[in-house]
Amino acid sequence: MSKENAIIRTESVSFSYQEGTLVLFDASVYAGPGEFVAMLASNGSGKTTLLEILAGLLKPQKGEVFVLNRNVNSYTTSELYQEVGIVLQNPNDQLFAPTVHDDVAYGPRNLGLSEQEVAERVEEALQWVGAEHLSQRAIHQLSFGERKRVCVAGVLAMRPGILILDEPTAGLDPAGESLMMRLLNRLNQENDMTMIMATHSVDLLPLFADRLYVLKNGKVVGHGTPDHIFADHKLVTDASLRLPYISTLVHELKNLDGAPIRGLPLTLIEARRRIMDVIPADVVIERLKNESS
Ligand SMILES: Nc1ncnc2c1ncn2[C@@H]1O[C@H](COP(=O)(O)OP(=O)(O)OP(=O)(O)O)[C@@H](O)[C@H]1O
Ligand SMILES: [Mg+2]
Repeated sequence: MSKENAIIRTESVSFSYQEGTLVLFDASVYAGPGEFVAMLASNGSGKTTLLEILAGLLKPQKGEVFVLNRNVNSYTTSELYQEVGIVLQNPNDQLFAPTVHDDVAYGPRNLGLSEQEVAERVEEALQWVGAEHLSQRAIHQLSFGERKRVCVAGVLAMRPGILILDEPTAGLDPAGESLMMRLLNRLNQENDMTMIMATHSVDLLPLFADRLYVLKNGKVVGHGTPDHIFADHKLVTDASLRLPYISTLVHELKNLDGAPIRGLPLTLIEARRRIMDVIPADVVIERLKNESS
């Protein structure tokens, strides 16, 4: 995907919350239609700031943001919310209506849709996130994971083409994490939604992301496919991140056996394939037998 086809992009944006302290420097990022892009960085590196700039919530002091080739400043709030939805890092910053139904209905109601259309959108959005049964529940009676899913539903009810998610899996248990990633993957694959996600979790991402940006202290220090990024150990560790566990395991195996495994796999299936490429199955079986006897 090249910058020319981008449907959302920043051009050299810099941002400071307080005069004199820049937290983003000259950051240029983009996503093409239907792409799944992740911003990978350690705490305090500027992920949230960059996502909020992309969604038009924060205005950079320098640089520009374009959505569908139009400067973000030329959109009304309601126009922009129909193109770009953002799920904030903390669900409590996003949810405010008394019930789940009212919260998800808030955006479509503001568009002036009929009550029937609003009800259809709410039902559809809650179905997407598997939360129809929570419709009449008060927000304060929801678990953290349920709140996160309701936030996603509230944004989906606006039917945006671009979905921005700030750490969508943070604070979820393994089942919740997997549920959220499968949901986002379906939205991306079946609805062709463009996804931009911030995270510092390196284990799940490579399975889903088409491209990654690595940020360090407010600067974009790396950009490319997951294979390309994780092949560069220095880039990853300099950004205070680590390799995915599966890559680390294969790396250890290479050191232990001197096995000539090509590169470092990012998924279990890929790891198995590469290991089988260089170590024939009968040798693996023989070794396992020897080790267990
Ligand atoms: N409202 C604010 N006022 C002043 N400084 C802020 C504000 N929000 C964030 N910052 C600072 O901006 C920098 C970038 O913060 P940001 O929240 O964008 O990072 P992040 O990568 O999202 O971090 P995390 O992984 O902890 O969510 C940090 O140094 C932070 O202290
Ligand atoms: Mg953040």
